[in-house]
This record gives sequence, C-alpha cells and structure tokens, in this order.
Amino acid sequence: MRRGTLVVRGFRFEDPYGSLHPPIYQTALFRMEEAPRKSDRGFDLKYSREENPTLRPLEEAIARLERGADALAFNSGMAALSTVFLSLTKSGDVALSTMEAYGATLRLLASLGKFGVRLTKAYPDTETFIETLKEVKPQVVFFETITNPTLRVIDGPSVIRAARDLNALVIVDNTFATPVLTTPASYGADIIVHSTSKYIAGHNDVIGGVAVAARRELVEVLWLWRAMLGSIMQPFEAFLTMRGLKTLAVRFERQCETARSIAEFLSEHSKVSEVIYPGLPSHPQHSTARKLFGDKFGAVVSFRVRGGRDAVVKFLKSLKVVTPGPSLGGVESVITYPVISAAAPIPEEDRKLLGITEDLVRLSVGLEDPEDLIEDLDRALQC
Ligand SMILES: Cc1ncc(COP(=O)(O)O)c(C=O)c1O
Repeated sequence: MRRGTLVVRGFRFEDPYGSLHPPIYQTALFRMEEAPRKSDRGFDLKYSREENPTLRPLEEAIARLERGADALAFNSGMAALSTVFLSLTKSGDVALSTMEAYGATLRLLASLGKFGVRLTKAYPDTETFIETLKEVKPQVVFFETITNPTLRVIDGPSVIRAARDLNALVIVDNTFATPVLTTPASYGADIIVHSTSKYIAGHNDVIGGVAVAARRELVEVLWLWRAMLGSIMQPFEAFLTMRGLKTLAVRFERQCETARSIAEFLSEHSKVSEVIYPGLPSHPQHSTARKLFGDKFGAVVSFRVRGGRDAVVKFLKSLKVVTPGPSLGGVESVITYPVISAAAPIPEEDRKLLGITEDLVRLSVGLEDPEDLIEDLDRALQC
C-alpha cells in the first residue's frame, strides 16, 4: 500500500457488526477467568494501563507508515520520549544529541544524568555531529529530522551509518518532517518518535505521542516500560488521533505548499531580515533536504523580524488570523516565540550559537487560504 492509502486503511480491523471505523473501548479492565486474553499482537489484554484495543489501529498504521516493526502510543510526545530513554539507556551510557532540539527533550536528556547517563551535545550540522559521534563513542544517538526551531536538516542516513559502525542505538524524533517527508527506519534508525499532538493528530485538540520500533524485541521492552510508567495513550485520545491520521497525507502536502509560498513572500519583505525554510535555496542544508525529502520541505517557516523583541511582540499582538501560541502541526496556523517557549530550556550560550535570538519567530502553517495568511502576516508586520 502507498502512503495515502496507509493513513486511511493501514490497519487490520474486523468487527462483528461490520463497523467501518474501530470503536472506542472505554474500559479499565477486560474479563479474565483463567488466563488473560491476548491482543492482536500477542500482549496480555487485561488492564488498560497495559494494552487497549482502541490504540491498535493507530499503532499499526503509524508503524507501517514509518516502515517499523510495530508502534506504541503514549499520552504525550514527552511520555513517548521519556519511556524510550528510561527503558533503553543504562548507567554508564553516553547519549549524544544535537545541541538544538525541543527544549523539554533536552531537559529530559540532561536529567538522565542522575541515573548515570551522560549527555554530550553537538552542533547540529552533519559534519560536526559525525565528528563528535566518532570522538565520544556514544551508546545512544538522538536527533530531530528537522530541528526545532531553526529548522536544520541533519543528513540522517550518514549519521546513522556512523552510529551503526559503533553499535549505537539511534532514536529519531520525526515530528516536524512526518513520514510524508522521510522514514528514518528505512535507513537504519532503531526508534522513531512523534509528538502526535502535532501533524499526526493535526487538529490542535489532542495531546499524544508514539514510538515506532524497528525490531520486535525493542517493542517488548518499551511495552513493559510503558505499563510500568503508566504512560499509555487513553482510548478517546487514540480515537481522535486515528481520525486525524486519516487526513495526514493531504493536510501535510497542502501545508507544505502554503509554507513554501509564505517563505517566498517573507523573503522579499522589508520588515523581515532572514527567512529559514529548508525549501529555500538559501537554506544551508537545502541540498540535504532535497535529497532526503524530495520536493516538499515541511510546513514550519522560521523568520527574523527587524526591530527585535518589541517589534516581535507588536507583530504577534497585531495578527488576526494566525494564533500566537506554543505548538505546531494543526489545521490552524500558530506562531511561536521560541525564546519564551520551546527553546527556553536551551542554555543561553547554545541559543546564541544556534541563532535562537529575540527576533526569531516560528510559524506553523495551517490549512487556511494562503492569501489570508499572507495578508495577515503582511498587515501585522507593517503595524
Ligand atoms: C519536536 C518535538 N518533539 C516532542 C515534543 C513533545 O511533545 P508533546 O507536547 O506531545 O509532549 C514536541 C512538542 O512541542 C516537539 O515539538
């Protein structure tokens, strides 16, 4: 099956009544007289903190989209990431991450220090990342396919090849790129994580996460840890997320197209000093993005507003269509001020090095008419 079909029909489901859409099993427990029943993948089906059939269509469809063996759904992207890192690292390990990543992820990785996992951070370009990898010989390697918020594109296949030579486990956050642009398991990643709160659910109305594992033995470890930590996605959230997933391909393609038009418009704007978008030839990793993603480059555009903090605040307050706020990936366009939200946990000296400064904003392009978005941005920039 191809991508557009997989998002709609990428799961097995049979219902005694012939229901087309899987129901919500809103139950805490399952009958158990002697031995527990088994879910379709052979795990015990007895208590909804461990396994619930409502999650299975979502998990199966995402695993197939991401070219992994299986997936597990979590109650947030951070629940997925913390379960993955707690279950797959041990005291004495070195974890290598890009210096730029979602702030809470970096905070989590640094916090693993109290369990004896040492974090090393490298500047997010392919050469530096691979050089550091060879130098520190980590047991675990982590990066985002498009980094948050300055949208750098690491050459995943080259990094993963280098990590494989050292037998390191590779964990990739594919939230910004989605499986529409790239599927890191197909070039060797072990675990792929998503905040499904973003493009996968896609409607700014539900929090969730998913971890796709390339091999069954990893699924078993993650399943046990998800049950111990109680980080499983809830049935109604799984239903909403599955409903969102069905339109991922069409939504994301249209969002990418609009993002490109907006990036081109902003590039010519007198109140904007720089536009960062992997689809622009001026982007430093444009050729890597083209090689990995083809002709689509994501639906987030970051840019710098001339005039610094005061000008940014005035601009955000003047927007009438785009909502200022701290998320991305939904049908409504949302604009984020990274220094006060996602990037706040990044140390100031790293922020400076990365260019996460007070003039930077990050726009998540939604499904509104491109003309309305462009007019709104233009009007607010002129205020
Ligand atoms: C790239 C990335 N990964 C992970 C997360 C965390 O996801 P959640 O907010 O669903 O916990 C976010 C949230 O913004 C994110 O942007």
